[in-house]
Amino acid sequence: MNPRSNEQQDLAEHRGLLITFEGPEGSGKTTLIKAIAELMTSRGEQPLLIREPGGTAIGERIRNILLDTASEGMCSETELLLMVASRAQLVREKIAPALAAGMIILCDRFADASVAYQGYGRELGESTVAPLNKVALGDLEPDLTFLCLLPPAEGQARLVNRATDRLDRETALFHEKVYEGYQAMAVSGDLRFKVIDATASPAEMLAATLGHLKRLEHGLLKYL
Ligand SMILES: Nc1ncnc2c1ncn2[C@@H]1O[C@H](COP(=O)(O)OP(=O)(O)O)[C@@H](O)[C@H]1O
Ligand SMILES: [Mg+2]
Repeated sequence: MNPRSNEQQDLAEHRGLLITFEGPEGSGKTTLIKAIAELMTSRGEQPLLIREPGGTAIGERIRNILLDTASEGMCSETELLLMVASRAQLVREKIAPALAAGMIILCDRFADASVAYQGYGRELGESTVAPLNKVALGDLEPDLTFLCLLPPAEGQARLVNRATDRLDRETALFHEKVYEGYQAMAVSGDLRFKVIDATASPAEMLAATLGHLKRLEHGLLKYL
């Protein structure tokens, strides 16, 4: 299925890796990505860190529109299209060139977030979201996606001291539906998804993630 997972040598020498991190707000994605990036940097590697929505100058402007609490009246379809627009720019401007250059990309949310947030949370459905994601991604797919699973109420409780954006401020019901989306991915049988128990400590989450990444280092991506 994945045309880029050929030989081990190929993996190591000719292409980068796109690793995405998904999960509810407060599930520890940013904390985890920082820890992985620090480890990689200490070993002389230079991962590319990006976040969604945003990650490009145009995407950051779209991000501001999306997350601004002044955008309260935004309909679900506009939200979806803006997310996808930001993603299309990110793929072409940053992700595709970095992969071609053999870089490892750690992405704080990506296409699956639209399935969870707009597909499940806004109830637009995966059948609406998937073709739009395809417009943004073309044939590109993350090599690995870590699903940081945490009941949304626990995630929200961790965010009490953080300034909240428009999506953070959504109802508990909305966040439950988003979580349902992530849970559906976890049981989808797609081996790209790796569940990380986000009720665990940051150190335990890091260890679990590194366990998967170590196998990847040994060229075992297709057996993960
Ligand atoms: N495994 C964890 N257990 C408890 N608290 C955590 C954990 N990981 C992160 N946190 C804390 O929870 C808050 C949200 O973490 P963050 O990494 O920003 O989550 P996200 O990026 O998924 O929204 C932060 O205050 C962070 O210090
Ligand atoms: Mg974060």
